[in-house]
Amino acid sequence: MASLVLGIETSCDDTAAAVIEDGRRARSSVIASQAVHREFGGVVPELASRAHLDLLGPTVDRALAEAHVGLDDLDAIAVTRGPGLLGSLVVGVAYAKALALAADRPLVGVNHIEAHIWASALDGAEIPTPFVGAALSGGHTEFIVARGFGDYTLWGQTRDDAAGEAFDKVAKLLGLGFPGGPIIDRLAAGGDARAFDLPRAMIGSGDYDVSFSGLKTAVRQVIGDRTPPHPETWLADLCASFRAAVVETLEAKILRLARDTGAAAVVIGGGVAANRELRAVLGRGAERLGIPAFFPSPVWCTDNAAMIGLVGSWMLERGQTSGPDLEPVANLEEMGFAAPALAAAS
Ligand code: KG4
Ligand code: ZN
Repeated sequence: MASLVLGIETSCDDTAAAVIEDGRRARSSVIASQAVHREFGGVVPELASRAHLDLLGPTVDRALAEAHVGLDDLDAIAVTRGPGLLGSLVVGVAYAKALALAADRPLVGVNHIEAHIWASALDGAEIPTPFVGAALSGGHTEFIVARGFGDYTLWGQTRDDAAGEAFDKVAKLLGLGFPGGPIIDRLAAGGDARAFDLPRAMIGSGDYDVSFSGLKTAVRQVIGDRTPPHPETWLADLCASFRAAVVETLEAKILRLARDTGAAAVVIGGGVAANRELRAVLGRGAERLGIPAFFPSPVWCTDNAAMIGLVGSWMLERGQTSGPDLEPVANLEEMGFAAPALAAAS
């Protein structure tokens, strides 16, 4: 009999549900993106939790229907426990608890960052350990070493803006829309990455941390008092130069960590993992180190519930289930994920 786990994700502005079969394949994956944030150029937490309340029930129903399963067929219900926006997490966790109670099935609380890092496994990737995992999204930029499932050390992170946040903020400065990453990625394709000399902060520092706020300020200075619409080649050149600065910074830190720790692979996850330049540059960089680089297919890069169901299935196999006392946690540090590296760094 196939094992079936329902995954639920509500940590930010995507309401998502998925059914995972045998801890490896998504039988369904439904994502209801909240259009309400677009006009604000960023996620508005209060609006996000309200939208989750409206969207979650229908989204779960659709995920079950598309997988041709009922609640009774499920082996467990997995839900994002954190990190994320507290008000959004509360909606998902409360819903999952009620569902687990109604269906009399175990509940599994999943770490969103851990799920991003293992998302490549949804494509069938067999990832060798130890590996360097990078979670690169709108809210996160973390570099970890994974010695196996559940065994992680955090080695580096952003000191200010997350990588995806930098894309979003620069897109907003340019009047391009939200989320900015895919738009800048597309516009950059026709541009000259050497047209503007933008900073690569901390690229030579001996640690594994990054910083993107200075880059954003540098882009603001380039824009000056130009107002949209921007000349086409100027825009393409600026997008390409900005993208190159982010990509080269990430590449330097990820590959240094891989080299220093003797990693057998690098694994990228999160919305920014969909970036075409990052995929190309890191792919070549890992090849020079003689190790593979794994990127999830684009649908598994951005927030989805399949990655939550996947990690939830593996936790279920290990008996790592929770009771009705499961609480959402907003910060990664409080999830017992960051502690070893913080200790190692001090
Ligand atoms: O993982 P995700 O869906 O949500 C969070 O957990 O934050 O990531 C969304 C982020 C946004 O900041 C978005 O601009 C960025 O990922 N993103 C990209 C690309 N696609 C999405 N950034 C750069 N290049 C892309 N192609
Ligand atoms: Zn995410």
